[in-house]
Amino acid sequence: MGFDLDINEKGHLMIGGADTNQIAKDYGTPLYVMDENKIRENYRKIYRAFSKHYADFQIFYACKANTNLAIMRILEEEGSGIDAVSPGEIYISLLAGFDANKVLYTGNNIKDEEMRFALDSGVRINVDSISQLQRLAKIPNTEGLKISFRVNPLVGAGHHEHCITGGEMSKFGIKENEAVKAYKMAQDLGFEPVGIHAHIGSGILESEPFMLAVETLMDIAGEIYQNTDIEFEFIDFGGGLGIPYHPDENELDLENFAWEITGLFKEKLDYYGLGKPTMCLEPGRYIVGNASYLLTKVNTLKESYRKFAGVDAGFNTLLRPSMYGSYHHIIVANRAHEATVENIDIAGNVCESGDLFARDRLLPRLKEGDLLAIMNAGAYAFSMASQYNSRPRPAEILIKKGDGEIIRERETFADLLNKQILPPRLLK
Ligand code: LLP
Repeated sequence: MGFDLDINEKGHLMIGGADTNQIAKDYGTPLYVMDENKIRENYRKIYRAFSKHYADFQIFYACKANTNLAIMRILEEEGSGIDAVSPGEIYISLLAGFDANKVLYTGNNIKDEEMRFALDSGVRINVDSISQLQRLAKIPNTEGLKISFRVNPLVGAGHHEHCITGGEMSKFGIKENEAVKAYKMAQDLGFEPVGIHAHIGSGILESEPFMLAVETLMDIAGEIYQNTDIEFEFIDFGGGLGIPYHPDENELDLENFAWEITGLFKEKLDYYGLGKPTMCLEPGRYIVGNASYLLTKVNTLKESYRKFAGVDAGFNTLLRPSMYGSYHHIIVANRAHEATVENIDIAGNVCESGDLFARDRLLPRLKEGDLLAIMNAGAYAFSMASQYNSRPRPAEILIKKGDGEIIRERETFADLLNKQILPPRLLK
């Protein structure tokens, strides 16, 4: 419990050996600052925890969490594969140097052109519906194609209703009781089904729901094997590994989580005689979430009917608090050693009342010009940012051994007009 913070003798918050105050001075705010070592450390933690119990283990980084090319390169160097959800993510993955055969395309409601793009790219398609399967079969030269299915194991979990992706209300995957039918149909259509996949939700801090999903998916895999003789090359349990956002939340006990899951996985492999398929996981948040801070400056202090500190970022920069009511811990980065003394609302600069990073947050007494570091801003932060209110998106900095490098330039006003065309008849 609690967060390990690195604070220097001046009381400045450090990230990856760099002083956040200096970084903010050098590059301006709002600013995303990412710690390279942390990403590598998080990746290795998962890899080691699982592979020591089951050697044929592969991580497919869920790049929807953060698609910055530098982050993608770091994970490619680490040996990761990619969970891609769109042609855009496939494009970025290949550009970042991932082998096509290490990219799994798990789309939802995708159209034929998108499947054609995936086929031309050589990535593996994880089929989400019977409709998709039948449309895939109509695309020429797909005979013998290796595919997998996303199955809804009727188990869901997640930090918010919007992030639960299994269960009766979910739009994802094929129904568990239709799985055998779907695999047979795939064989009849000339495909070679070699994998099975489930992803039950995001932000899971306990092993129970995950264990239930593993159990169900393995039973479905067993039933498929018994009915079709399909030998699975891989079994993929998706992502969802949570991180603490609040200092009172406990970390996921990764060692135990890995031990329990691989134990159940192996038990079920033996029980059904499923051989030794590759075991896959698709973490996004766990790898990049805590590796980044969003730095933003207090410009306004206002005593209205409530007490507000206004900052130079908004939900266009980090949507999670407004969208899910998510808690993100905030540190006063220029006085990180000071005691917390007052409750204050931290408001963004977007013209909507819902644009708040925190209500009644207990912080040191704030001053105009203070630098705030919003924690856990590595996952679903920049990747969900927008230009709403015509605010250019911020820059991203990568820290390695205390030094910062720009990995995305701050957008300019010109970027706000990107791709717009003014018909000549409207020229002034
Ligand atoms: N695999 C699939 C098929 C997924 O749909 C997702 C996330 C993941 C893996 C990775 O999940 P993770 O390990 O990152 O929890 N915007 C939300 C999260 C949405 C996640 C959607 N799918 C948030 O900010 O909390």
